Amino acid sequence: PYEDKVKDLLDRMTIEEKLGQLQQLTWTGDTGPGGGQTEEVERAARAGLLGSVLNLHGAAHTNTLQRMAVEESRLGIPLLFGFDVIHGFWTTFPIPLAQASSFDPAVVERDAEVSARETRSNGVRWTFSPMMDVTHEPRWGRIAESCGEDPYLNAVLAVAKVRGYQGDDLTADDKVAACAKHFVAYGGAEGGRDYNTVDVSEQRLRNLYLPPFRAAVDAGVATVMAAFNTVSGVPAHGNPHTMTGILKEEWGFDGVVVSDYTGVEELIAHGYAEDGADAARLALMAGLDMEMVSTNIAAHGKRLLADGRITEDRLDDAVARILRLKFALGLFDDPYTDESAAVDVPTPQAREAARQTAARSMVLMKNDGGVLPLDAGAGSIAVVGPFADHTDLHGTWAGPGCRRFPTVSILDAVRAAAPAAKVVHAGADVAQAVAAAESAEVTVVVIGEEPELSGEAAVRSDISLPDGQEELIAAVAATGKPFAVVLVNGRPLTIGNWLDSVPALLEAWHPGIEAGNAVADVLFGAVNPGGKLPVTFPRAVGQIPVYYNRESTGRPYDPAHDDEKYVSKYLDLADGPQFAFGHGLSYTTFATGEPQLDRQSVTVDELEHGECVEVRVDVTNTGELTGDEVVQLYVHDPVASIAQPVRRLRGFRRVTLEPGQTTQVRFTLGAEDLGFWTNDQAGHFTVEPGRIDLYAGTSSLAEARCTLTVG
Ligand code: IFM
Repeated sequence: PYEDKVKDLLDRMTIEEKLGQLQQLTWTGDTGPGGGQTEEVERAARAGLLGSVLNLHGAAHTNTLQRMAVEESRLGIPLLFGFDVIHGFWTTFPIPLAQASSFDPAVVERDAEVSARETRSNGVRWTFSPMMDVTHEPRWGRIAESCGEDPYLNAVLAVAKVRGYQGDDLTADDKVAACAKHFVAYGGAEGGRDYNTVDVSEQRLRNLYLPPFRAAVDAGVATVMAAFNTVSGVPAHGNPHTMTGILKEEWGFDGVVVSDYTGVEELIAHGYAEDGADAARLALMAGLDMEMVSTNIAAHGKRLLADGRITEDRLDDAVARILRLKFALGLFDDPYTDESAAVDVPTPQAREAARQTAARSMVLMKNDGGVLPLDAGAGSIAVVGPFADHTDLHGTWAGPGCRRFPTVSILDAVRAAAPAAKVVHAGADVAQAVAAAESAEVTVVVIGEEPELSGEAAVRSDISLPDGQEELIAAVAATGKPFAVVLVNGRPLTIGNWLDSVPALLEAWHPGIEAGNAVADVLFGAVNPGGKLPVTFPRAVGQIPVYYNRESTGRPYDPAHDDEKYVSKYLDLADGPQFAFGHGLSYTTFATGEPQLDRQSVTVDELEHGECVEVRVDVTNTGELTGDEVVQLYVHDPVASIAQPVRRLRGFRRVTLEPGQTTQVRFTLGAEDLGFWTNDQAGHFTVEPGRIDLYAGTSSLAEARCTLTVG
């Protein structure tokens, strides 16, 4: 709808002004190497040589800069302000990995809605979220920002976030442009080391890493960010196959591809570009539209054009994409932000949403002997451990709110939830914790990882509990008194050593601003936990990568023949994960029935013409409390032209049931659920005839099975 206006501007722009639109500079050095670029920002804004500004927020600040661009530059093209709003701006929601544990697109969408409102009212119209990097790497710190190891779950939640951020009208004063990142396969970094090599077959690229991006593009995501890694030898920032071939040509993406922070410059360090000019050429011609922080395209573009090393068509296409986005965001009509309308604190409603999301995101990993829920009428409760009274459980990459608004501590929230109880507190000191546990009827041990231990460039080679916390658990366990462990962490941890001594274990992740209240809601049963793991918990670091959707091997391990030597196993470790993908308990119990099909067979032709198969699964609350279950549907193609994952999640539904209540969950499976991408570089999706096994249940270990014939 803006083509005439875009063309009109393009016709009037000089080469320098065009190149300027492709430049994003950063106001602060908060999110990458080097410092802020404030002077360059102001100079370039006034000269009309800047497209976008990173890392500045606050309506008064953005308006000041915007005035320089709109009122002082020759063409008055407004700036676009971008900021990382990953799980909240003022109101910190749980980290994305936690939100994925909710298996609930509605709460994920609500986070994005709240975040968009707070962000937009603070002068920012572009967030660098959602992150949708599927990963099998718990050592990688950025697993905290992703939705875990499954492409389907990542895709469903990415769509929910895009909807929440963008709505259907980007000009609305409570919406922002979203950014699907990092394109692509960033989660595959070897050894989990950030920014590291990714060598990936075409089929794995397309079946594992690309589906969330495809779903986000289909949902209308406005922008995409390139990834720091190489993809099979070619850096993503200079990769024509992924950025142009797949994203723009195959999928028809007409939005903006932005680089990551100095990602264009890094083509030199990758050994892919000779110098800055070469990096600019490679990135632009591979399909990148905007350069973040480094300045190679702007600096060398004119000479590259004169030398015929880049084309004017490509340059104009990149500029047009950026201008189109600015029109779509309403920046040309109203470039400023109403300073009197800024949301500058988390509202009670936003806090309530964050609390509900956090509680819905918690995963009850173990609950032997019914230690949980705690009795709010207990006479005494000890709350111990290094995170018991912690007021920074925001998690990695929280918005500016994390510096102004502390999280509610678990200690304070337990006090509030059990007003009649004597609540005793001890921190990390083992002797004091033991004394507290001995003096109380029940103990809550709060342990985990500091927020700085996960996130970008926060990789661990050992993912066990840090800082002697295992000793703390052992000492509390030795008291023989009942206790529950609450984990606050940003990644799966190896918990093999101490799991047996712990009667109850609640995975709370980094829950955000309402951390304590949400934990207390679950501990005392005001909320019955219903979250599920979006990632596998390994038994030991040496087992990584371990993930549920692995391919079949020629010599699989069979527990019935444990002494067989020549199979795929470790000599010194039990087979399988500590906790499987999809695992999570409740204070009630559920039974799921066999999956039932509405038809026993379907032809490839019917599937290719859009026909679907319906799968019905009954689920019953067999316990005594109202609670949530996530019914999960997995498919497996046992004979295919490419070895298939042993299971693939293709449907899930979170339901709330009263005691004794049964409901029927329905899933539909179409071609996209039953077929797969081949290794063809040109993109070939195939549905092959044969048997498909379907498994339904409450985790990836579900055993109830039925069979569909694809003829
Ligand atoms: O959006 C981020 C990205 O995820 C990592 N590097 C910096 C960018 C902008 O802050």
